[in-house]
Amino acid sequence: MEKGLLLELKNVSAGYNETKIIHDISLAIDEGEIVALMGPNGAGKSTILKAIFGLITHIGDVLLEGEKIYPSPHELVKMGVAYVPQGRRVFNNLTVKENLELGGYSLKDNKECMRRAEHLFNLFPALHAKHDKLAGTLSGGQQQLLSTARGLMTEPKLLLLDEPTLGLSPKVVKEIFQTIKDINQNKKTAILVVEHNLHSLLPITNRAYVLVHGKIVATDTGSNIAKSDILERVFMGKI
Ligand SMILES: Nc1ncnc2c1ncn2[C@@H]1O[C@H](COP(=O)(O)OP(=O)(O)OP(=O)(O)O)[C@@H](O)[C@H]1O
Ligand SMILES: [Mg+2]
Repeated sequence: MEKGLLLELKNVSAGYNETKIIHDISLAIDEGEIVALMGPNGAGKSTILKAIFGLITHIGDVLLEGEKIYPSPHELVKMGVAYVPQGRRVFNNLTVKENLELGGYSLKDNKECMRRAEHLFNLFPALHAKHDKLAGTLSGGQQQLLSTARGLMTEPKLLLLDEPTLGLSPKVVKEIFQTIKDINQNKKTAILVVEHNLHSLLPITNRAYVLVHGKIVATDTGSNIAKSDILERVFMGKI
């Protein structure tokens, strides 16, 4: 299948109040690709995702399937983009199933919402086993799976995932990466993922961007980035 360009950023800058955090960011994600965004704490990775999802204003161009867009998060969901923020955000006092159903709030058809929740329960058996439990009683890894699953309720073309494995044990990290790969392969969902677990992520990525102080300093295939010394230099503060 020939891949088309799904999302493109051209010279995008953004920040908070008067402070510019990301500078002239240009990046591209093809349909069905897994693209990694990596870099030290405070580099601006989450800020890039927020700018894409319309949570903060930007200058420069964001293009979805070749069309320049400047939409609100609500409109982006309708255009097929989903965002799972950093930090396992679940509604503690709702059940796992209710949390999932909330992810489908934009669907008009209740039956379709239930069908998708069932489908996701098949994809995430650990969540199915806890479907009637309050989300606040889940383990950290299970909450992370739940917030990722909730993002998938809209069956997005593009999933923006911010640090899906933060603070999780190696075994759970492995499971989450397997799930990311499965989602990508089964649904052809393109995924832009911010991640610190580079060794687990790079083998499954098509492309990786390395960000330092709000600027992209390197871009290559996941395997070339893994082979090079760029990440070592970045994380040792040499760049
Ligand atoms: N809501 C905000 N208001 C003001 N400044 C912010 C806000 N959010 C982030 N920043 C600043 O923007 C810079 C980049 O933050 P960002 O969250 O994008 O980094 P990051 O690369 O995702 O880091 P981490 O790996 O720690 O999550 C930091 O200096 C941070 O202090
Ligand atoms: Mg972040």
